[in-house]
Amino acid sequence: MKIIIDTDPGVDDAMAIFYAHAAEEIELLGLTTAFGNVFVHQATRNALYLAEMLGKDIPVAQGAALPLVFDTHEPSKSVHGPEGFGDFTEIEVSGMPVDESAAAFLVRNAQEHQGKLAIVAIAPLTNIADAIRLDPEFTDNVAKIVIMGGAVDCPGNVTPFAEANIYHDPHAAAEVFASGCEIVLAGLDVTLQTLCVLDDFAQMAAMAPKTGGFLNDIGKYYLKFYHEIAGEEGCGLHDSTALIACTHPELFRMEKTGLSVALDGPELGNTVRAGPSETISVCTGVDGETVKDLFMQRILSNP
Ligand code: RIB
Ligand code: CA
Repeated sequence: MKIIIDTDPGVDDAMAIFYAHAAEEIELLGLTTAFGNVFVHQATRNALYLAEMLGKDIPVAQGAALPLVFDTHEPSKSVHGPEGFGDFTEIEVSGMPVDESAAAFLVRNAQEHQGKLAIVAIAPLTNIADAIRLDPEFTDNVAKIVIMGGAVDCPGNVTPFAEANIYHDPHAAAEVFASGCEIVLAGLDVTLQTLCVLDDFAQMAAMAPKTGGFLNDIGKYYLKFYHEIAGEEGCGLHDSTALIACTHPELFRMEKTGLSVALDGPELGNTVRAGPSETISVCTGVDGETVKDLFMQRILSNP
């Protein structure tokens, strides 16, 4: 399956990108970057760093620095660290992003691979909204957009109502949900059922020293946040779960429903059901154990 990952690396983004590299059913066409866990220039540098670590020529296209409407953005330093990779801050890269914006990169690839390209969006949805604005045929050209975002039947992780990726650009999310695109929403309802614990990270380091070792190094900060703030002894495989919802939908229970997003007030960023929809599927259940096993299996098999 041809996939572009729209990302804000980020610890769990790094996990998802390594997973995508190791999954034989995924042909990774590129990474597009957005603000979110970090500023966009850091997201781009981090995406290049991950691609270089994988030794693959994966194009990286830089995208949005700010949300569509709000004019500020605060990176999630307490969750992902000052540079996005926990305590690891010596992030040097030799490559450069491609000379095309994220939205233009998405539009061109959707045209070139009409009906065959899936976009897995694991950052605020600004680049996706920009692509929809840029090309009216984008929504038809793209096969589906699988989004890590939202908390439909469970509390949020930024506020009691909102999940981070939607909260950081609720206007973009509203435009994407209203676009008519084939959408799968894999939100906290399912991504918190796929926890990765300290021992899993240790196993990754032991069995896959390069990539797993890196995840173990950057994961410590992320796990500490989950422990101290959320009282959890593991971290959700948020972004990897969205990738797996894209390639293995049979592991998820899905409900077709329209979605709306609260654009102001205390519920800002809340994703709620809104009437029927033929094109939006919300993941309401998951075989979390199988998703987690699949994740570990792929990471461990890629030393
Ligand atoms: O709410 C989890 C999401 O927000 C993940 O994509 C994580 O990387 C952060 O961006
Ligand atoms: Ca992310």
